[in-house]
Amino acid sequence: MSDLLGVIGGSGLDQLGEGLRLNPIDTAPWGDPSDCFTEFHMGNTHVLFLPRHGYDHRYAPHRINYRANIMAFKNRGVTRILAINAVGGISATMPPGTLVLADQLIDYTWGRAQTYFEDALSTPVHIEFAEPFSNTLRQQVLTAAQKAGVKIQPTGTLAVTQGPRLETAAEIRKYQADGCGLVGMTSMPEAALAREAGIEYAAVCVVANKAAGLAEGGTIDGMELVLEVAMQQVSSLLEAMVLV
Ligand code: HPA
Repeated sequence: MSDLLGVIGGSGLDQLGEGLRLNPIDTAPWGDPSDCFTEFHMGNTHVLFLPRHGYDHRYAPHRINYRANIMAFKNRGVTRILAINAVGGISATMPPGTLVLADQLIDYTWGRAQTYFEDALSTPVHIEFAEPFSNTLRQQVLTAAQKAGVKIQPTGTLAVTQGPRLETAAEIRKYQADGCGLVGMTSMPEAALAREAGIEYAAVCVVANKAAGLAEGGTIDGMELVLEVAMQQVSSLLEAMVLV
């Protein structure tokens, strides 16, 4: 039997593989996922790829149906999801083009559907979330990166903001004071829902730009080009992940 790996792509990685795009599977009662999966085999691994924003990038971060997305993987029996996230770099040690395997996050989002456990409960459900990313999967990513010769920083704390607007310079100073080296808009509630669903989840953060107030020009000027180059590293990493 082949291994199953779920991959969630973010900005700069809206396509992966040449596989079939099938109709989305039933994710009731959580509504529709962002799109259907692209499915393909690589080595001994069956990959299910889902673009978080849709193939045509139609969903802004606060409009993504994170519950349906994670449930789509769960209903297909996926037990590991590698998420790819374009982020802004706050730390001077994480300049554009850097790959970071986040190990912590702070959730600054609001008003998003956060949980599968809010209605008709017989007892309240509180997942463990001290370590928001799977250390088992993180170790697999680090091993694959080493094998592929891909440089990735092994730890980083991610500020997850509501978006879709970029941050103010003062917000970035606050996140930095809070201990965050990276800022993105999509890891929450995605990571928490994966935990609720019992799915190992890790996030490869691709630094696309310097965070607000740290860049000379506009915050995300030149972001596409940086992502295009960095995603080649992500592809090598993914290849090494599935060919283990
Ligand atoms: N802030 C928040 N999210 C982002 C950024 C940023 O600077 N760059 C890419 N995603």
